[in-house]
Amino acid sequence: NSFGGNIPQDVAGKQGENVIFIVYTLKDTPETLDKVKDVCANFSGMIRSMRNRFPELMFSCTMGFGADAWSRLFPEKGKPKELNTFEEIKGGKHTAVSTPGDILFHIRAKQMGLCFEFASIIDEKLQGVVEPVDETHGFRYMDGKAIIGFVDGTENPAVDENPYHFAVVGEEDADFAGGSYVFVQKYIHDMVAWNALPVEEQEKVIGRRKFNDVELSDEEKPQNAHNAVTNIGDDLKIVRANMPFANTSKGEYGTYFIGYASTFSTTRQMLESMFIGNPVGNTDRLLDFSTAVTGTLFFAPSYDLLGELGE
Ligand code: HEM
Repeated sequence: NSFGGNIPQDVAGKQGENVIFIVYTLKDTPETLDKVKDVCANFSGMIRSMRNRFPELMFSCTMGFGADAWSRLFPEKGKPKELNTFEEIKGGKHTAVSTPGDILFHIRAKQMGLCFEFASIIDEKLQGVVEPVDETHGFRYMDGKAIIGFVDGTENPAVDENPYHFAVVGEEDADFAGGSYVFVQKYIHDMVAWNALPVEEQEKVIGRRKFNDVELSDEEKPQNAHNAVTNIGDDLKIVRANMPFANTSKGEYGTYFIGYASTFSTTRQMLESMFIGNPVGNTDRLLDFSTAVTGTLFFAPSYDLLGELGE
């Protein structure tokens, strides 16, 4: 491969059917480093075990580190070029907030039971050294729809492009080749306002048809449609694995956005286009119905580097 022979984590896979996203911060204790190293050292083995036990259930998990945690835990390893604390993006109307996070786990499987099993193993291994920041449980909704009723993930690099090319660091940062920049953002939707919008208007917000996912023509698609604003060029793509989540009786409906990229600047450029606008002011119409409540950047090292971090 072109990642210096390193094997990437599962950063270019499908969204999955059941997902648990966990973000922790690390406590400063005498045991912290050892416990984190233990998870790094055993991570690929734990995944192998899940896959051997349940070969049909498409189990996968990726793990990533925030910039602060990386520098504190592994000062001797240097730092991936673009791994910095996410700087908030403040537009005229909308803000992409920056929120804390030291370690991310993105757990996917066909059955939620497997996600839970793995989450509980990790949580036990990290007992006493982590503080939970957020845990979100996502589910596949109908034919892969976001909770707002539109299919999400269509334009991901897939059939005619190698998704790893867009998701994985290559020789440009040789020490970290095989890794991936993972950006997460938890969004809450205003479903009352969204549902009050006629379907044809919703279609102009997303830039695709609601029923069959067909893209609107250039004439039909407004400049501020979500897929117009985030389409920043054929060479500038990322791999998204967003999941819907909901707590119906509380009226909480959301999208957990997760994007893997070979370079964070691509993800950041998409965010700037959404929140500031290009040209300035042409902000993403989807943001009028969706509020980002978290925003954190992580780096998911290759399996090879994870093993080294565990030594
Ligand atoms: C496209 C949903 C946030 C990047 C889409 C589509 C949907 C969608 C329904 C059209 C189908 C597809 O091609 O996947 C959402 C929701 C979000 C969200 C519900 C959160 C509220 C984001 C963010 C980014 C992003 C934060 C980037 C940082 C993209 C890209 C496309 C896309 C690159 C494809 C554009 C193209 O057609 O070339 N999204 N999205 N999305 N989204 Fe999002």
